[in-house]
Amino acid sequence: MKQDQPSQTAEYMAFFRAMESARPASQRLFADVFAVHFIRPSLRRAVWLSQRPVLSHLVNGYTDRRLPGARTSAIARTRLIDDTLGAALREDISQVVILGAGFDCRAYRLSVLGRTRLFEVDHPTMIATKLACLREVLPNVPDRVRFVEIDFNHQRLPEALTRAGFQGSQPAVFLWEGVTNYLTPEAVDSVLQYVAGCAAGSRIIFTYVHAGVLNGSVSFAGGGRLLRAVARLNEPWTFGLFPDHLAAFLRERGLCLDGDLSAQQYRRQYFGAAAQGMKGYEFYHVAMAHVRRDGEGSAARVAREKSDA
Ligand SMILES: C[S@@+](CC[C@H](N)C(=O)[O-])C[C@H]1O[C@@H](n2cnc3c(N)ncnc32)[C@H](O)[C@@H]1O
Repeated sequence: MKQDQPSQTAEYMAFFRAMESARPASQRLFADVFAVHFIRPSLRRAVWLSQRPVLSHLVNGYTDRRLPGARTSAIARTRLIDDTLGAALREDISQVVILGAGFDCRAYRLSVLGRTRLFEVDHPTMIATKLACLREVLPNVPDRVRFVEIDFNHQRLPEALTRAGFQGSQPAVFLWEGVTNYLTPEAVDSVLQYVAGCAAGSRIIFTYVHAGVLNGSVSFAGGGRLLRAVARLNEPWTFGLFPDHLAAFLRERGLCLDGDLSAQQYRRQYFGAAAQGMKGYEFYHVAMAHVRRDGEGSAARVAREKSDA
């Protein structure tokens, strides 16, 4: 991704969330009133049109033909992550880190996060763009939200987070939605190993793409087209994982897998029978993992404790 420009894939995520938020309250999976403020005028017009009863099918249909499965996957996984985060916060968690936050507005829209310290981590350009748009609708960005500038591919998370006030000794939830696929394997390793070294009780909710869509070893409807589209946006996909290898991959990095759902599965969870007709993006997974507890033996944590002593 060109770091001097805001991410267009983040803008598309905001667009999908704005479309869902424009639906009647009784039908939508969530309401993100901020999302519409991050998108360009042409996309705002599409959101406006999608509120007209007859036109909504046309706008959704057009979007789904252009990017098969992207909208429905984005909506269902946003809700899945909201729910998973809400459940995790019932435990003793006082800090949440949103890695590659883009235009994610969970910090401002989820009441369950009301008293939690939040760290939004992204490229400096993204953070500046987000703050400029956000201040138009939320003049006083809450003090409990800290913005952390980083390039995951070239900088390391621990120093940046610690400088921003993150407490390594307290458990945290890390969200990493829609980001690993843009990174180098080394950057993904570095972040996962850092999370694995965080306090017991910490967890991570992250997305990854099936490695088969990247190397062509598995055929996914619309996969090739999507890869070309993100490359044209200068945000090529560079990293993926094979679902069968995920548990071992995480274990080697000090984390225990709790769950792994493909788009087909999380769409079924939230759209029910209608998910049958939603095709595309089956390669897009949401996974949940926790830091190994005492006795589960995290190499990263043991190493950190030794160096702290
Ligand atoms: C598809 S967007 C997802 C944004 C947000 N998580 C969401 O779900 O709406 C990808 C995000 O990852 C960020 N990102 C990609 N590569 C990055 C890197 N090397 N360092 C920091 N942030 C990066 C982009 O700036 C962008 O905000």
